Amino acid sequence: MALLKSAIIFFLGMAALQVSIATVYKVGDSAGWTAMGTVDYKKWAAEKNFHVGDIILFTYNAQYHNVKQVSHDDFKSCNASNPLATYTTGNDSITIKKPGHLFFLCGFPGHCEAGQKVDIRVSRGSSMAPSPSPSDAMAPGPSHNSAPSHHLKGLLGQLGLALAIVVVCLSGFAY
Ligand SMILES: *[C@@H]1O[C@H](CO)[C@@H](O)[C@H](O)[C@H]1NC(C)=O
Ligand SMILES: *[C@@H]1O[C@H](CO)[C@@H](O)[C@H](O)[C@H]1NC(C)=O
Repeated sequence: MALLKSAIIFFLGMAALQVSIATVYKVGDSAGWTAMGTVDYKKWAAEKNFHVGDIILFTYNAQYHNVKQVSHDDFKSCNASNPLATYTTGNDSITIKKPGHLFFLCGFPGHCEAGQKVDIRVSRGSSMAPSPSPSDAMAPGPSHNSAPSHHLKGLLGQLGLALAIVVVCLSGFAY
């Protein structure tokens, strides 16, 4: 009995975890990852509330851009020579692993200086409001943001599985 109860709690917990994670944020929304000065990435990031488990998606033409994760100092000075991570596919999805800041810039000459850099501030709790980071980005023209798309793939399957297990266990209790 205790084992069955533990199993139920475990699977419900798994389902709850699945529900709370995985919002996909496409950097720059429809404009994507660009050096054209059409996206204010600082504003874009400030209006989001990033959490552990969310996915940051960079889309761009890999001939002209890339994505480098750098330190805060290298972010401020647009120095791409010591990347912590480098992404070059043109469709890079990066899963947020922990709270804190993730600093990204484009490593192509002049692009970071033109504003192709983004500071992803990942909140610790689930209800913390995002706040703008210190002023260290050139801010070209205004941008318009659309709501983040939600990643529902697999969620229904997970819930269905959990419910099926609960039903099986409960029918076991009832016999
Ligand atoms: C970038 O960082 C490296 C290593 O920290 C340093 O040697 C180099 O001078 C820096 N480049 C610029 C342009 O600041
Ligand atoms: C880009 O990656 C996302 C997430 O991995 C995927 O859903 C999408 O189909 C990919 N798009 C292209 C054009 O490859």
